[in-house]
Amino acid sequence: MAQEKGRFTDSRVVLHVCGGIAAVKVPELISSLRKEGAEVRVALTSAATSFISPLSLRALAGHPVHLGLLEVDDTLEGAGMPHLELAGWADIHLVVPATASTLARMAAGIADDVVTSTLLATTAPVLVAPAMETNMWEHPATRVNCALLAQRGVHFVGPVSGRLASGKEGEGRMAEPAAILAAAAFLLVEPGPLAGVEVLVTSGGTREAVDPVRYLGNRSSGRMGLCLAEEAAWRGASVHLVTAADLSPSSPAVAVARVETAEQMRDAALTVLPKVRLVLMAAAVADYKVARPARSKLHRGDVPQLRLDLVPTVDVLAAILDKRRPGCLVVGFAAETEDVRERGLAKLARKGCDMLVANPVFGDHSAMGGDSAEGIALMADGREISLPWASKEEVAKRIIDLAQGLLELDQGVLGPE
Ligand code: CTP
Repeated sequence: MAQEKGRFTDSRVVLHVCGGIAAVKVPELISSLRKEGAEVRVALTSAATSFISPLSLRALAGHPVHLGLLEVDDTLEGAGMPHLELAGWADIHLVVPATASTLARMAAGIADDVVTSTLLATTAPVLVAPAMETNMWEHPATRVNCALLAQRGVHFVGPVSGRLASGKEGEGRMAEPAAILAAAAFLLVEPGPLAGVEVLVTSGGTREAVDPVRYLGNRSSGRMGLCLAEEAAWRGASVHLVTAADLSPSSPAVAVARVETAEQMRDAALTVLPKVRLVLMAAAVADYKVARPARSKLHRGDVPQLRLDLVPTVDVLAAILDKRRPGCLVVGFAAETEDVRERGLAKLARKGCDMLVANPVFGDHSAMGGDSAEGIALMADGREISLPWASKEEVAKRIIDLAQGLLELDQGVLGPE
């Protein structure tokens, strides 16, 4: 098969296939991995063979597939013990789909087939893509098993919400192959300059209830914060993304906490703050909330004129600045409709953060809601760096470059503490 240079060039990937209907996506995964340069070997549980033909997988992978602990594979170097050979050969193991049963066996350290034995014998990263019915995913046994595996360093991608094997809708659908590949690619990159650094990113527009169906909100999409979180993760950081937006990161190094209100955002941010060395406060936090949201839906004609009594929300950034530990750098953001630089400078001084990114939200180059942005980075040390109109991914790279520079200045060479 012709190989393009890609994210998996020269990577050795073992795909562990379990018995679930999502196994039908495995051929697509193998083809994509090989197109991007990976060498792929496949191991199957006995249940997997009822869902997908080992012969097809052998043809796609270009290697014999592993079905049992006692089947010798002459194409692998070693002493004729497939699980040890696969465990040592792989740069990464992908468990796709990961069934409730295989997750349970992994959590318990059971090694009763080639899949679980290999996973027990390896020191390479393991990424699991769970797929099962919602009740099975939410069952306390599965919750405990997943928490245990995550605590031991197993990485998860998905599951997502959608149509399940039963035809019902719910959480438990396997992540799409593209998301699984993106997560695997993140795990294979060399430790970057932010390895060992914990980063907090906030994103999205907070929402304050008017009644059970309506809210006060803003036009923020949460995309800038998502790009910042992914860029920091690419550079090796462990990222906590506290978000009021619906977007999901593809990196398993980004842990997501979903919130709605300013108060929830503050609480979630303060929970992780003690371990964090860099805060990127990209969220558009609503400044006011309704003093007394209606308990039931307001109806047209209930009152001749509806007046909402608004009171200030908490200032999340102020709470973070107040509680941050010494050496924790804080970057604020400001979206302005006029006098962007002057208002940005005033806000930088008033808020007391280490850097403030001021974005215009007028004219053709508005940062709010779209895929591109521009702005100016104002540093507490007096430097002003222009961020020209570019994709939010590019702008995020420049912002992280500047923040990383500040961290290096402040703490010498970066590295785990
Ligand atoms: N911010 C916050 N909590 C709030 C309001 C704002 O944490 N309740 C943060 C934003 O995430 C951003 C910075 O403060 O990083 C500046 O936000 P902005 O809305 O521009 O500033 P305000 O304090 O609301 O000031 P103004 O209303 O004068 O623009």
